Amino acid sequence: MSRIAIIGPGAVGGMIAALLCKTGRHEMTLCARRPLAELTVETLAGVITAQPTVLTEAKQATPVDWVLVATKAYDATGATTWLTGLAAKGAPVAILQNGVEHRERFAAYLPADRIVPVMVDCPAERSATGRIRQRGPAKMVVQDDARGREFAALFAGTPVDVALTADLKSAVWRKLCLNSSGVLNALLLQPTAAMRDEKLGDLVRAMVEECMAVGRAEGAVFEDGLAGKILQAYRDAPPDSVNSIHADRAAGRPMEIDARNNVIVRLGRKHGIATPYNLMAVALLEAMARGV
Ligand SMILES: NC(=O)c1ccc[n+]([C@@H]2O[C@H](COP(=O)([O-])OP(=O)(O)OC[C@H]3O[C@@H](n4cnc5c(N)ncnc54)[C@H](OP(=O)(O)O)[C@@H]3O)[C@@H](O)[C@H]2O)c1
Repeated sequence: MSRIAIIGPGAVGGMIAALLCKTGRHEMTLCARRPLAELTVETLAGVITAQPTVLTEAKQATPVDWVLVATKAYDATGATTWLTGLAAKGAPVAILQNGVEHRERFAAYLPADRIVPVMVDCPAERSATGRIRQRGPAKMVVQDDARGREFAALFAGTPVDVALTADLKSAVWRKLCLNSSGVLNALLLQPTAAMRDEKLGDLVRAMVEECMAVGRAEGAVFEDGLAGKILQAYRDAPPDSVNSIHADRAAGRPMEIDARNNVIVRLGRKHGIATPYNLMAVALLEAMARGV
């Protein structure tokens, strides 16, 4: 029986918590900003209801064996307030967030050997506090090392596919190539069907290539034809799919602009690589968020 705490019981955190609770192999604690009576998760294999322990104050947190952080990237600093109690006895901390800077976000709070970056591909949406719908198979990728293997073992008996890779850097950059071009939907406030437009398709390809250039400078390796594959994936997706940055903008919430697009601009500058498509997307979206 492992003691697991999940910080951020939103779409990803709530779905993962329910799938782990169902195994009966873990003692689950949810660390939330607001009270939550129970989790109701419509998974691909039926509805799971679970009543894990819920804490709403960091001072209530006591040491666990594993901490999983599933807040949005922009809430990472707030999430660290829980670590004093939860990770007091040296628990590893898995970061279930988008972007390529999992380690950088937590480096000031934890030693490097306790940070476990996770590439998350777990489509899910939250309709209300504690009510979540899984939208597709849950997949994650972690580095093939001792911590990564321990993390993967937590998911034994669940339908979550946790893959081990010798090259996590390339996996997170590949995901960033997809996510960064998804900003177009947030700018247009139009679902995935928009990518069927020919000129928008050209723009997706150009944005992916821009992300790949910066990723390569950072040491990531990509397969041939990735830009075309990503565009095809958009075009094959259900036409009404709404990605999370689009959903956040539509709901007036903060957006992961820095983790999904500005990171390409920042790291591009470091390497002397121009990133005009991402720069324009960041400038426009930030201006719109400010109501300019
Ligand atoms: N959803 C997806 O399909 C999906 C797929 C792949 C990757 N991702 C990535 O996974 C990460 C999580 O996304 P998500 O969609 O699960 O986000 P989400 O639904 O917005 O959930 C985030 C949760 O974190 C909570 N939170 C924020 N600050 C907190 C704090 N200081 N203490 C405790 N809880 C806190 C939020 O609380 P409130 O209830 O108060 O808002 C919310 O419950 C993001 O990086 C996202 O890009 C998401």
